[in-house]
Amino acid sequence: MLFFSLLLEVIWILAAEGVQLSLPPTMYLEGLPRKYVAAQLHLHWGETGSLRGSEHQINGEATAAELHIVHYDSDSYDSLGEAAPKPQGLAVLGILIEVGEAKNPVYEHILSHLHEIRHKDQKTSVPPFNVGELLPPQLNQFFRYNGSLTTPPCYQSVLWTVFNRRAQISMGQVSGGELEELQETLFSTEEEPSKLLVRNYRAPQPLNQRTVFASFIQVGSLYTTGEMLSLGVGILVGCLCLLLAVYFIARKIRKKRLGNRKTVVFTSARTTEA
Ligand SMILES: *[C@@H]1O[C@H](CO)[C@@H](O)[C@H](O)[C@H]1NC(C)=O
Repeated sequence: MLFFSLLLEVIWILAAEGVQLSLPPTMYLEGLPRKYVAAQLHLHWGETGSLRGSEHQINGEATAAELHIVHYDSDSYDSLGEAAPKPQGLAVLGILIEVGEAKNPVYEHILSHLHEIRHKDQKTSVPPFNVGELLPPQLNQFFRYNGSLTTPPCYQSVLWTVFNRRAQISMGQVSGGELEELQETLFSTEEEPSKLLVRNYRAPQPLNQRTVFASFIQVGSLYTTGEMLSLGVGILVGCLCLLLAVYFIARKIRKKRLGNRKTVVFTSARTTEA
């Protein structure tokens, strides 16, 4: 479904609402009704130290941060700006980011350049990296719905794809963790005292009759562990009963056949005698 290439040098730009990395149109999404080429990626996160900063929640669970990879319909429009207000003009990949034990090399790579752009309208370049490595495992598990941009003017123009699995970054008990880098590096103002750029996520909005499609069956939400266990035991007992039944029927049939064969043997024996 996705087509990712190794990125050439790209640029972080710090704008009022957050930090974004420009992406080349050679990167695009496959498997959608039209061709959507990449434009930029950006992140949303919470307050310093907070583990709630994602914009999407799966079963009511938020994660520490969220990555958005923004694409626009290049079959119909010439630029991101032109496509942004149009229905399904944009296709955005949403990646929930949670805090894990280990450092994530590719997130570390891109976030380590943030301190070069601490203030608004500054830019810095990031050496080449593989965008695909920013994505979580099991890309075939995702949610898809027609929604909006999460920053003003919040156009209803986004075909959202939110992955079920999460990417992991480290908190960094010792300084230098990736989440810490995100939460404590950027400032939203130029004047002193500088205001830290935090909590740039939008709270979840009502679904408003929208249908959210899942590309997979969500076992976890349908059954609890206890239900799964009893279901498993039930299936096992059922199989055993079936096996026993088949065994006894087979035995009965064999007995009957043996009985028949005896008569055949008997008959043929009599024929040879004659
Ligand atoms: C989004 O809306 C379009 C146009 O109404 C529709 O064709 C498409 O099936 C919708 N997609 C999803 C994922 O709801």
